[in-house]
Amino acid sequence: MMNDIVDLKEVISSEIKCANDLKTLDDVRVTVLGKKGRITALMKTLGQMDAEERKTKGQALNALKDEIADLIKSQEAALKKQELDARLATETIDISLSPRAQDKGHIHPISQTIEELTAIFADMGFAVAEGPDIEDDFYNFTALNFPPGHPAREMQDTFFLPDDPDEQGEHIKKLLRTHTSSVQIRHMQNNQPPHKIICFGRTYRSDYDMTHTPMFHQMEGLMIDKSTHMGHLKGCLQDFVRAFFELDDLRVQFRPSFFPFVEPGAEMDIACSRKDGGLKLGANKDGSVDSWMEILGCGMVHPNVLKNCGLDPEEYQGFAFGMGIERMAMLKFGIPDLRTFYESDIRWLEHYGFDPLDRPNNATGMKK
Ligand code: DAH
Repeated sequence: MMNDIVDLKEVISSEIKCANDLKTLDDVRVTVLGKKGRITALMKTLGQMDAEERKTKGQALNALKDEIADLIKSQEAALKKQELDARLATETIDISLSPRAQDKGHIHPISQTIEELTAIFADMGFAVAEGPDIEDDFYNFTALNFPPGHPAREMQDTFFLPDDPDEQGEHIKKLLRTHTSSVQIRHMQNNQPPHKIICFGRTYRSDYDMTHTPMFHQMEGLMIDKSTHMGHLKGCLQDFVRAFFELDDLRVQFRPSFFPFVEPGAEMDIACSRKDGGLKLGANKDGSVDSWMEILGCGMVHPNVLKNCGLDPEEYQGFAFGMGIERMAMLKFGIPDLRTFYESDIRWLEHYGFDPLDRPNNATGMKK
């Protein structure tokens, strides 16, 4: 039997070496070490031997079994490496290939504008807050000092949702928010003052023409502290438009206006000139201003709004402002018709959109 073992070892070793794929190697393993394998069969004969013989042959067979198992393992590792090398050779990726040469999408001017606005206000210390598109009548109107039946509600005609009772059986009027001002209320109710936030989002009104779409975007700002005053409002918004339009001396003016949630309320205009059918932002060379363009609403937050949010108006005060994002984008990027923002025309997006890998930012500016 000792000779058999030596022969067997040679035969099996060469079978293992000749197995040049994993499947063949596994077949060899089964014929040798499997239940009906050759070594297993020899093991079974040990039972008929006397004790002395069983001891020596048993040891020899166990050693053979271990050697064969090791050989199979190392052949398996070699075959796996070979297989991987072969696969890698066929799957080459040329990482030097520039994505700039490939077809790529564009960043929509709305997204670009939101990022630019965020960067400017983040530099001034404002954080970004969020609120839902589907609002309760309370947050959209009542808490903002538009009581039921107030005529100012008429100016913001929107889309109302079916008036279903909630779990407590209470009827809460739901609507698509007409402005982002509702986020002011949610933020003040859920956070401790001082407040210094901006918020972006979709807003809805039932309008449709060259400068109105049923869905559009707004940005809201809110700053509340113990000593915030109208001077802060004016300085903040003047710095903002100068940074956004990249005109260091852009002149602004504040005109009194009415919004129920601010007192006093104002509209901010920027200097412009509309000669020869074109529009140019800024004053004339001699400092005179031809025309003014309204760009946002603002004011000192009304004491009733502060009270509705649990703040004592004797202790806290501050300002708020709101603007249309499309309007800012149209002015900055020279887009004439609001409706085109949502027509999903690829040619429009290629023209007005931004290269995702080379976007203008506040450091590089638009003018390169
Ligand atoms: N919510 C107003 C609108 O949609 C815009 C606005 C005006 C927001 C004055 C404000 C503000 O925060 O103070 O017309």
